Amino acid sequence: TFSEAEKAAIISIWAKIAGHADDIGAEALERLFLSFPQTKTYFSHFDLSSNSKDLRNHGGKVVKAIGNAAQHLGDIDHALSSLSDLHAQKLKVDPGNFRLLSHAIQVTLAAHFPKEFNAVAQAAWDKFLSVVSSVLVSKYR
Ligand code: HEM
Repeated sequence: TFSEAEKAAIISIWAKIAGHADDIGAEALERLFLSFPQTKTYFSHFDLSSNSKDLRNHGGKVVKAIGNAAQHLGDIDHALSSLSDLHAQKLKVDPGNFRLLSHAIQVTLAAHFPKEFNAVAQAAWDKFLSVVSSVLVSKYR
């Protein structure tokens, strides 16, 4: 569960991201694939070149799912239930990869919102993304 200060930090950064989901998502994925090339194996069917249509589409979907979670901080389990089924049962993404994506998202937010994404906001987002990740890996067994 999140403190009131954490909730405020999560929601206020989400408000900055909301209109730029595809940009932020594509950049986070590009950072993920460049820094951790092993993560590319799940996306062999994508065009992984910088800012490609695939990266923008998929990045936008990922960021919008995070936004859905940000708007349901009291019930992230329920908000992400079908995505949790998908990642666990169909995609079988190795759970360690969620930390890598969370890192890439945080670096992207720091680069885009240097003033707003301060140390306090980052700590709240780090916790938030770890909760999102644990929901998405919760149905593996
Ligand atoms: C698909 C969200 C982490 C691999 C998706 C979709 C969403 C999503 C919204 C699209 C579902 C649909 O089309 O119905 C997230 C979120 C994550 C996360 C919020 C964590 C914050 C990861 C990680 C990997 C991964 C760490 C692997 C490195 C995939 C793959 C697909 C997918 C392979 C299917 C792509 C396709 O063929 O269209 N994810 N995801 N996801 N995700 Fe994730």
